[in-house]
Amino acid sequence: MGRKIVVTSGKGGVGKTTVVANLGIALALMGVSVVMVDGDIGLNNLDVALSCESRIIYDIGDVVLHKCRLKQALVRDSNLENLFLLPSAKFVSQDSISVQAFSSIVNEFAREFEYVLIDCPAGIEQGFHRAVMPAQEALVVTTPHISAVRDADKVLGLLTTYSISNVGIIVNRVRGDLVVKDSAMGADEIAKLLRCPLKGAIPEDDKLGFAGTFAETGSEICYTAYKMLAECIMGKSDRVYDCTKPYQSIFYRFRHKRS
Ligand SMILES: Nc1ncnc2c1ncn2[C@@H]1O[C@H](COP(=O)(O)OP(=O)(O)O)[C@@H](O)[C@H]1O
Ligand SMILES: [Mg+2]
Repeated sequence: MGRKIVVTSGKGGVGKTTVVANLGIALALMGVSVVMVDGDIGLNNLDVALSCESRIIYDIGDVVLHKCRLKQALVRDSNLENLFLLPSAKFVSQDSISVQAFSSIVNEFAREFEYVLIDCPAGIEQGFHRAVMPAQEALVVTTPHISAVRDADKVLGLLTTYSISNVGIIVNRVRGDLVVKDSAMGADEIAKLLRCPLKGAIPEDDKLGFAGTFAETGSEICYTAYKMLAECIMGKSDRVYDCTKPYQSIFYRFRHKRS
């Protein structure tokens, strides 16, 4: 059986969808089979992040309404043949996708794929419950902002009421330049505060804000950070990307000592 991992957060807009898209690519580049399930019913952010919205024919709504088979709704990545997306439904209401229907789709995928990544919607209501229910593992995304960390803490508490066996933290949008100046908390400090293992640290990258993935932007730094996250998830290493590295050289410090 494949691993069923939900990517969630307390606060919205911290980077869940971006993490699912980039982690999916990074895992697929390591040769494992991956399916990403967009659990944000009503919105379609994951296909936009993956730049494949024009290739969608069917979506999860069509599967649930028996308009197509599950396999017909899958969109294969244009570069990686072992990476797939099940798009979210744009034209059905939240209520038409039940917890049971969503869970049975995820379980069916787990029989065929090594990794099932579930993109959780914002909030802690119905959509959260539906996305978390079938998962065995959770990755909680936060940014270094205190409000996001506080909300991540609440979600970690909530996750204890589900049958999730393995929870990890991903700190996204880390400003290494601020961390070296002690103006922001580092990813390891945040994970310590949340009393949860750190699985990944992703630097702030303007390019990622415009195009959703490192594959699209060609960002070396984000590629390295996501490759390390994928290795951590696969249990090949326990190292996370050091976002302060580009700012530690004596030349960088000398140039910026007055700022
Ligand atoms: N590491 C990053 N650096 C810069 N911008 C990012 C980064 N990660 C995500 N973003 C941007 O933040 C915004 C919210 O990300 P998104 O993944 O949609 O969040 P969520 O799914 O949690 O609502 C998007 O515009 C995205 O491009
Ligand atoms: Mg999202």
